[in-house]
Amino acid sequence: MSEDDETDDATDSSTDGPVPVGVKLGSTRTVIAYPDDDGDLEIVNTLTCMATYEDALTGEERVLYGEEAAREYPDRVEFMLRSGLPEDDDRAELTSTFFEEVIETNDIPEDSAVVYAIPTIDNEAGLKNLETVIENSSIGTELVESYPESLCGTIPGFGDDLEAINEILLAVNLGSTNLEASAYRRGEQLAPYTTGAVTGNEVDRVIANHVEEETQGRVNIDVQTAREYKEEHADFEDYEPFTDIIQQPGGGAHEFTIERSVMDAVDEYVDDVVDEFANTFLPELANEHMKVYNLALEKPVVLTGGMACIPGIVDEFAERASDELNRDIDAIAPDEPALAATLGAQRIAARLTD
Ligand SMILES: Nc1ncnc2c1ncn2[C@@H]1O[C@H](COP(=O)(O)OP(=O)(O)OP(=O)(O)O)[C@@H](O)[C@H]1O
Ligand SMILES: [Mg+2]
Repeated sequence: MSEDDETDDATDSSTDGPVPVGVKLGSTRTVIAYPDDDGDLEIVNTLTCMATYEDALTGEERVLYGEEAAREYPDRVEFMLRSGLPEDDDRAELTSTFFEEVIETNDIPEDSAVVYAIPTIDNEAGLKNLETVIENSSIGTELVESYPESLCGTIPGFGDDLEAINEILLAVNLGSTNLEASAYRRGEQLAPYTTGAVTGNEVDRVIANHVEEETQGRVNIDVQTAREYKEEHADFEDYEPFTDIIQQPGGGAHEFTIERSVMDAVDEYVDDVVDEFANTFLPELANEHMKVYNLALEKPVVLTGGMACIPGIVDEFAERASDELNRDIDAIAPDEPALAATLGAQRIAARLTD
């Protein structure tokens, strides 16, 4: 604990000493948070992808990352963490190159205490590779620690400081490659459950299929476009059908309207999330830790990860989980679910440097 409680801003320790940094290297996005010289929190948020090209003047190899790489080099952009973790040495090396480039471009201080939000995935080799990336990075000369992504994500949802760490609660992280559910007892992870079957990426594939059906085969979209449709239009509170235009191979443009494809896909997704939560995760938790199960279900379930950004998804989850379990289930999400894990990690880093 800090000596006094006037610091409700976890970034205050920026004046001297190592800078507290939070990092999430996600399969879709990498998010880094750290205080600038004035103590205001800076957030770097970029697609986890890179492309290399040859400098036209010097012939040197150059690295481009994030949105720019995806936009300008769609033919050879690499999403190194597509499956959630670096699968092999090559991918680990690419991830290191990407991460160093992000660090350099954004001047993330080397003299720092870095906390990484790490996915809970049963993949030892992948986790080892991620560890290598973290160990080889130039930041964190003062301290490097890692905590589960779903724990970090609950922190901004539960108060202005680290209140979540003193609670018994359930966290569900809705990511692009994984659904992760865990119970936490004062920061201790219990009965962690991960599945790659119910994911944001799968929703994108389903949207693409639905669009083809809804347009009677006239429109084929790729998963990137499906992801954009989802991120821009999915809304459980007030969805509006939208139109888009494709250029046809023979020339001419075809305008079409999407009434159901996006919402049908996210609707199925919420059903699947509730099913995994209520019928797989919770029974396992009850089996191993009956008391924690009972205590945790009296509190709101914390939903985090990018898919929790969909307007209305939290209430939809709570309602369907209540039906499924025949008891009142409440749910909450932090203000910015896709940033929450990084912000939580940053607060832990700030506490560790106190
Ligand atoms: N505003 C939004 N509306 C709907 N979906 C969103 C929004 N923002 C992000 N997403 C979706 O959330 C998912 C990414 O979530 P997140 O950033 O938590 O994943 P990640 O940590 O990179 O992946 P993983 O945890 O699987 O490794 C993607 O499917 C993305 O399309
Ligand atoms: Mg994630």
